[in-house]
Amino acid sequence: MSLWGGRFSEPSDADLRRLNDSIGYDRALYAEDIEGSVVYARALADAGVITAGEREAIVGGLRQVKREFDAERFELAAGDEDIHTAVERRLIEIVGEVGGKLHTGRSRNDQVATDFRLWTMRAADKLRAEIRQLQAAIVSLAEKHTGTVMPGYTHMQPAQPITAGHWLMSFFWMLERDLDRLKAARGRMALCPLGSGALAGTPFAIDRQKIATELGFDGPSENSLDAVSDRDFVADTLYIVSICAIHLSRLAEDVLIYSNPAFGFITLDDRYSTGSSLMPQKRNADPMELTRGKTGRLIGNLTGLLTTLKGLPSGYNKDLQEDKEALFDALDTMRQLLPVVTATVSSLQVNVEAMELALTDDLLATDLADYLVDKGMPFRQSHHIVGAAVRLAAQRGERLSQLPLRSLKRISASFGDDVADVFDYMRSIRQRDAYGGTAPAAVRAQIARAKARLDA
Ligand code: ARG
Repeated sequence: MSLWGGRFSEPSDADLRRLNDSIGYDRALYAEDIEGSVVYARALADAGVITAGEREAIVGGLRQVKREFDAERFELAAGDEDIHTAVERRLIEIVGEVGGKLHTGRSRNDQVATDFRLWTMRAADKLRAEIRQLQAAIVSLAEKHTGTVMPGYTHMQPAQPITAGHWLMSFFWMLERDLDRLKAARGRMALCPLGSGALAGTPFAIDRQKIATELGFDGPSENSLDAVSDRDFVADTLYIVSICAIHLSRLAEDVLIYSNPAFGFITLDDRYSTGSSLMPQKRNADPMELTRGKTGRLIGNLTGLLTTLKGLPSGYNKDLQEDKEALFDALDTMRQLLPVVTATVSSLQVNVEAMELALTDDLLATDLADYLVDKGMPFRQSHHIVGAAVRLAAQRGERLSQLPLRSLKRISASFGDDVADVFDYMRSIRQRDAYGGTAPAAVRAQIARAKARLDA
């Protein structure tokens, strides 16, 4: 028998139950549900709605229910529709009729909104810690490669030399923004809906400020009608998880490309590589492909929820029950991905020589143009002249650095003996020592700032 059966003369249809019940997944909220109820029972006693003795009976019963869940001994009953009805049903079994006083002035609408916020706040904290671990792994690998030179790419075409440390650190800052977003979202999340009732608020003298503080929220929500149907916090979290996964996916893509034998810049540890059932030589990076692949699923969870929310009329609507599986799945997926991505980075072998061998003179074409700028030429002109030099070298099948000075001088009289100095990758890199640049010194400073964030 369900807890709301009074109005009905027939029990629910079995197919309806399969569609309607959320106990299959929302039992994950049991701890938050019981905490909310303990605090609510105290608020009811403070408000004079129940006696101190009744409060003690209810709180004691709730603690027993919690122990049953913790020990995985909780037995579902036929009528348990969701976690809220299951806990209340069991409470009444344990403490008797007095348990029926707990729901006074409360609705599952403010209850589920409270439980799920609390759960999401905690999940956000766990996610934060896991992202931090990945950042730490990135920093320690980057530190070893502040002087390792590799080709940098734009449009996936060779562009300018960069340090491998700089490449790695770029991902640190992407993740840092994800953490910023998580912090901001958590701030918005930390308002407690409990005491909003079904939609209109509560007629009982419930101290909402106190409830909020006791549950670890920053304060109570401002508007009961908004509070029961606000799932912005779920959408925020799904977006943050999606963009974070996009960052992981882009890292994965680099790892896939750079570990390809055509590049050979990095080698994945055996523990994070996979083989082929047919081709004995294969060394695949399936975990990186799954990182890329599962990002689609996470974006799907976000668009699914946004679509669910867009047409809802004011107040709670059952559509909102769709919030949970989307977020549970998203966070489960992140919990699968993050440790593997972190371990992949930690165990990554950087092949310094292969990176050096991939450096080509054309990566220094910009430096050659800058050389002419140093001689007083406007950059637009020097860009054009070096373009002509690159074309000439290509026509002659020579490297840019091998073009005789005579030929260069024929293109521009500004070229001098000292042009040979330009063809030095380390020189190019060291020059880019402005804040945020790829020079070893600038990357070391960048890493120091990153470490300060990690320690904060
Ligand atoms: N299982 C529901 C959910 O997850 C709880 C709230 C149900 N409220 C209601 N009035 N039917 O959203």
